[in-house]
Amino acid sequence: MQKVGVVGGGLMGSGIAEVCARAGLDVIVVESTEASAEAAKGRMTKSLERAESKGKIESAAAVLEGIRFVTDLEQLHDRDLVIEAIIEDEEIKTQLFRDLDRIVASPDAILASNTSSIPIMKLGVVTSRPERVIGIHFFNPVPVLKLVELVPSIVTDPAVTEIARTFVEGTLGKEAIDCKDRAGFVVNALLIPFVLSGIRMVESGFASPEDIDKGLVLGAAHPQGPLALADLIGLDTTKAVAESLYEEFKEPLFAAPPLLNRMVEAGLLGRKTGRGFYTYN
Ligand code: NAI
Repeated sequence: MQKVGVVGGGLMGSGIAEVCARAGLDVIVVESTEASAEAAKGRMTKSLERAESKGKIESAAAVLEGIRFVTDLEQLHDRDLVIEAIIEDEEIKTQLFRDLDRIVASPDAILASNTSSIPIMKLGVVTSRPERVIGIHFFNPVPVLKLVELVPSIVTDPAVTEIARTFVEGTLGKEAIDCKDRAGFVVNALLIPFVLSGIRMVESGFASPEDIDKGLVLGAAHPQGPLALADLIGLDTTKAVAESLYEEFKEPLFAAPPLLNRMVEAGLLGRKTGRGFYTYN
């Protein structure tokens, strides 16, 4: 796994590309427009410069040299591994997997998705090689959080899961856990209902975001409360994951509350747009 492609250079894709480049891999990031490719590069530069100033890496510039930013998916033809991290939309993701299947030449290559909630089977089935499609689910912020969920579909070759494990643990130095191909996997299936409960508390006027978050930080030793966490994940992503969970399990605890829907409609998406439950600079 020397040549890695990352499709989508947003919050997650730029983090995934960064950890791959820091591990010395040859990385190509594919974005949909020149402007978003520039934005991805800017995000990564900032993050790498922060790592350099903390002494975690020798040179941000040297790591950046290992990354190419492009808008042409065809550039991924020689990749050993492609990790998809585009927006959480089933139709757009399945089209991308059809394209990747056509473009990525090596039959030994692995096509992976960072999806939080779309069944891996739905992405594998549109390719001619579903046995080489797997979920490799990172956590935000990727350079900081150690966990990766490995999510083989029911037809993923077990050898592919083992190669993915060696990649995330050996090459990237992360820790993997194994999950079945069910919406939400392990962490989000537990975390999203918790975040939604916090949003319902705000919606009903039961308590303020500040007090809810303070309660969980000081009373339950959480590193951050559910509203701060929703802002970090992105409210659009939170909504999309909730909808996938609800679609899969039909449990009310997974249903997106109206306040979340209204905030997404208003473009109040959290940290990435500067405003969610809190305001950011
Ligand atoms: P984001 O909105 O920050 O980034 C998505 C990026 O994909 C954007 O930069 C967009 O320009 C690009 N894009 C969209 N369509 C594209 C295409 N066809 N080709 C190339 N680029 C395209 O979203 P985020 O948060 O990075 O999420 C990406 C994926 O990661 C989603 O599947 C999400 O469920 C998953 N994820 C998100 C986490 C989070 O905390 N935000 C955590 C773990 C997984």
